[in-house]
Amino acid sequence: MSRATQEIQPGTSFTFWLSRMNAVEKPMKVFVTRQIPPEGMKILSTSGVCEVCLWDSDDPVPRAELLKGVQGAHGLLCLLSDQIDAEVLHAAGPNLKVISTFSVGYDHLALDEIKKRGIRIGYTPDVLTDATAELTVALLLATARRLPEAVEEVKNGGWSSWTPLWMCGYGLSGSTVGVIGLGRIGMAIARRLMPFGVKRLLYSGRTAKAEAAELNGEFVPLDTLVTESDFIVVSCSLTPETQGLCNKAFFSKMKNTAVFINTSRGAVVNQEDLYEALTGGQIAAAGLDVTTPEPLPTNHPLLTLKNCVVSPHIGSATYSTRGVMASLAARNLLGGLQGTEMPSELTF
Ligand code: NDP
Ligand code: DGY
Repeated sequence: MSRATQEIQPGTSFTFWLSRMNAVEKPMKVFVTRQIPPEGMKILSTSGVCEVCLWDSDDPVPRAELLKGVQGAHGLLCLLSDQIDAEVLHAAGPNLKVISTFSVGYDHLALDEIKKRGIRIGYTPDVLTDATAELTVALLLATARRLPEAVEEVKNGGWSSWTPLWMCGYGLSGSTVGVIGLGRIGMAIARRLMPFGVKRLLYSGRTAKAEAAELNGEFVPLDTLVTESDFIVVSCSLTPETQGLCNKAFFSKMKNTAVFINTSRGAVVNQEDLYEALTGGQIAAAGLDVTTPEPLPTNHPLLTLKNCVVSPHIGSATYSTRGVMASLAARNLLGGLQGTEMPSELTF
């Protein structure tokens, strides 16, 4: 394998990786929009089919550089923070055969435009389900039991003595949990929560799920879920139907003692309405792993609230999961480039 590094211009951050290939064949170009774990880069750089142009940074590729980097590319490996729309597809031009996203969510991809051009899409379902479900449970417990707030009190001298009602929160035992979007991750969350002594599992979505029977899950209208749940967990995909789903009307139907958790996408929640619900005592607390925008500005009103726990979109953030995601994203890309099977192709 030969590796060549070429600075396009001073200050830019492009790296070219040339994979071993037959000298007579013209390599296909792929553009990778961020440094990804080595498990993925290795697959691409040793594949023998492509020349990788990498935005060699841990920071998102600026839009202008994305439009430049994608020019003439046959493949694009992108992250959820890259908006892949008609402008990007136009900049790429007619060579583009495949878009491989380093994520299971694909709300950043303009599906209609992609379909129109006959471009295939790869994504990373399943491999991040356990990690994301685990983080969701951690966030739920941290939020419901006020963990960040309590730890802070130890540090700031707020801990005086053992006091009957100080730092009390809400427990899962005997509770009703409502999951909005009982898909791969929603189901994995429910499986992990039930052993805490949850009494009822409600879920809502477009279709009832046969696998919910193993947990006695009840498929209910959204209104029923919202009014009857002690814990609401949002794990649906972001679509035009789910955008802004959790709004003023939604929060006003929740129990005052209920805890709201979102690990899907920030745009499912109307954050102004959530802020009102949290400050007005309409709901007890919220835990968010996803926000609008990301990162959430440090002066955002939600960050001033003790009853709101925000984590920085770390659902799938375990070393092993990110490694497997990288390798899957790379293999998807190669399948698309070569016109062969992709391990995880999005069919739409
Ligand atoms: P799935 O496709 O398996 O699940 C998505 C679920 O959303 C499906 O059950 C679907 O229900 C449901 N859904 C779709 N439309 C609606 C609707 N209108 N109302 C309620 N539910 C709806 O995907 P995953 O479980 O693998 O991932 C889910 C999402 O989690 C991703 O799209 C991503 O946004 C997010 N995610 C976040 C992570 C993080 O780091 N915080 C990590 C990984 C994923 P139905 O089947 O009935 O259509
Ligand atoms: C996804 O994959 O959609 C997550 O948001 C990040 O892993």
